[in-house]
Amino acid sequence: KKGKYDHFMQKEIHEQPDSLTTTMRGRLTRGRESKMKTVVLGGLKDHLRTIRRSRRIIFIGCGTSYNAALAARPIIEELSGVPVTMELASDLVDRQGPIYREDTAVFVSQSGETADTLQALEYAKSNGALCVGITNTVGSAIARGTHCGVHINAGCEIGVASTKAYTSQIAVMTMVALALGDDSISCRVRREAIIDDLFDLPSKVKEVLKLDTEMKELAKLLMEEQSLLIFGRGYNYATALEGALKVKEVALMHSEGILAGEMKHGPLALVDETLPIIVIATCDATFSKQQSVIQQLQARKGRLIVMCTKGDALSSCSSGACRFIEVPPVQDCLQPIINIIPLQLLAYHLTVLRGYNVDQPRNLAKSVTTQ
Ligand code: UD1
Ligand code: BG6
Repeated sequence: KKGKYDHFMQKEIHEQPDSLTTTMRGRLTRGRESKMKTVVLGGLKDHLRTIRRSRRIIFIGCGTSYNAALAARPIIEELSGVPVTMELASDLVDRQGPIYREDTAVFVSQSGETADTLQALEYAKSNGALCVGITNTVGSAIARGTHCGVHINAGCEIGVASTKAYTSQIAVMTMVALALGDDSISCRVRREAIIDDLFDLPSKVKEVLKLDTEMKELAKLLMEEQSLLIFGRGYNYATALEGALKVKEVALMHSEGILAGEMKHGPLALVDETLPIIVIATCDATFSKQQSVIQQLQARKGRLIVMCTKGDALSSCSSGACRFIEVPPVQDCLQPIINIIPLQLLAYHLTVLRGYNVDQPRNLAKSVTTQ
């Protein structure tokens, strides 16, 4: 079943051009006329009006699924105009946080069986919210228990560390944003540019997967380290959290994803010549802020690895004293799908080099069905 691959995680990382194609199949159309660019999500089309009119959209999930929702949050806010809040399922349940009939609660779960997410679903339902599922598993408890939803159709994922489900979840939530915004004339150009890039995404993912050997070399450099920090912001705050989660859960190395805007409020104290730091600084509206973060980290002699847009290495880090991971550009809201892939590859190679179990990391389970 693993074919030419050594591990399921490796297979699933390399499968992403295909899994993304399947996720989008039948849902996006593009005719000759630009007005024919459309998104149709069969499971949501009768509920879009209710979602657009809701007072708030609440994303609820655990682990990687929560990170995927965080990556999609900005584009949902931009195209729907509805405020979006984020909840880790266990925290919402612990707090019994307020949820109202006017809310739309979106439950993101690869397995559709995670106990905390299910409990949050029962809670939101009993409070009268519209409950929407984003799941990979047809017939799962969350798919059945929600009022409506979208299957991500990424195919079965076996590696405990989620990879292809993450990128398909972001693609689906971006399509949800496009569907929510399709009654707005002012965002038409933006919507069409995103649809065009969704069509190109599988080929861009193929391109970024070519970094495999480079990521293996980087893993050789980092394999003895105790810790790895990853700084991101904007669309790629989620990439920093998810990249660190991958390194932590499979390579068993301490890693922390940090919102770059918080750098001066604590993390800067950790910076010295030895601690490796990945800074995500691909081209988007936050680029100049990330340039200044890089300068400040360099001023403290930080050991930097900068993820930047292909061809942009010099402008992102002018002193040249850092290593680069160069990735192809796509629309800002899709960039997290591209940017996570080198970090998935890095986590994979670190795990193999450190001699740990890739597909079944110590103490972890694919689906956490107990609390
Ligand atoms: C559906 C079919 C697909 C078919 C397509 C043709 C299923 C599972 N999907 O896909 O095989 O090719 O029509 O038009 O039969 N739902 C939830 N919660 C969730 C996820 C989904 O309630 O978490 C509901 C949706 O609201 C919808 C149904 O499940 O009623 C199927 O969802 P989805 O597979 O995403 O719909 P389509 O893409 O239209
Ligand atoms: C577990 C898995 O912790 O559950 C993670 O090991 C996953 O990979 C998390 O992200 C949430 O699972 P699900 O199925 O609800 O997306």
